[in-house]
Amino acid sequence: LYAAGILFHRAAGRSVPKRIYDTYPDSEEPAESRRRWRWRPPCFQRWFQSRRPGRIFLREKKGELDMNWNPEQMQNLQWNGEIKNREEKERVAQKVASKAEDGQVIGFGSGSTSLLAVYAIAERVQKENLRITAIPTSQEMEITCASLSIPTATLLSARPDWCFDGADEVDPHGWLIKGRGGAMFREKMVMAASPIRYILIDESKKVGSLGEKFAIPVECQYESLQYVREKLFALGAQSVEMRLAKAKDGPVITEHGHFILDARFTNVQESLERDLIQIVGVVETGLFIGFDPIVICS
Ligand code: A5P
Repeated sequence: LYAAGILFHRAAGRSVPKRIYDTYPDSEEPAESRRRWRWRPPCFQRWFQSRRPGRIFLREKKGELDMNWNPEQMQNLQWNGEIKNREEKERVAQKVASKAEDGQVIGFGSGSTSLLAVYAIAERVQKENLRITAIPTSQEMEITCASLSIPTATLLSARPDWCFDGADEVDPHGWLIKGRGGAMFREKMVMAASPIRYILIDESKKVGSLGEKFAIPVECQYESLQYVREKLFALGAQSVEMRLAKAKDGPVITEHGHFILDARFTNVQESLERDLIQIVGVVETGLFIGFDPIVICS
């Protein structure tokens, strides 16, 4: 009867009733664009989605127009310019990619090392036909996943089996400074939600104590800038600088619409992360303490 209904509607030149398109529970597309998808038997939906996640079918009055994005415009994306220590980063990328297993949900970090790891995972996905779902930690990683046809989810809909990410500094306790790319907010959420965390670094990231090379990025709401700056000095910061954009006038604005203050601290204590986050107006910091990550070093 259902099939006959579809045929009837098609014969009458009408579009198929809306409810048929509402059978995509896994789709993250907004309802409006979801309705444009061609109906597939429910048992094959997953299969079709894993094969052609970027494919969209536009329905015209008669017949269908098969529309694909031109993949060329999103190939060889390099978000951070020239990748420093590329060979070493490639090695750790391969190591972490070898841990991916069919059916897993994986938290994808941000930065150049993570980007290489995503490329390495995508290669396995293609060669071995793995079904991997990514939870990206930044918009650039989301775009990268789309360009590689890796399906994505958010923490709202899925929990990662494990995650990987890069770091700017790693000390002997496994404490980290992150956030050179400004993505520390989502990075920390994904890391907190993952039972297993891999940190991918080359030798240059190892330090005796945090703060040797990098300032701690503090993401804050812009009206609180003066207040937060004062509090950072009160906590012992040696310098506090607003992070400025390079290809835009003014400050860097994060994905969540906030500003970043880079605060230089030496002699970082365990309590500092808690003290920073308690400042009113601070949204998140790039200090990652107590995550007990597995560090993979080149
Ligand atoms: C992104 O905001 C950062 O936390 C990066 O993960 C970190 O800066 C490491 O970047 P690279 O892998 O490019 O060194």
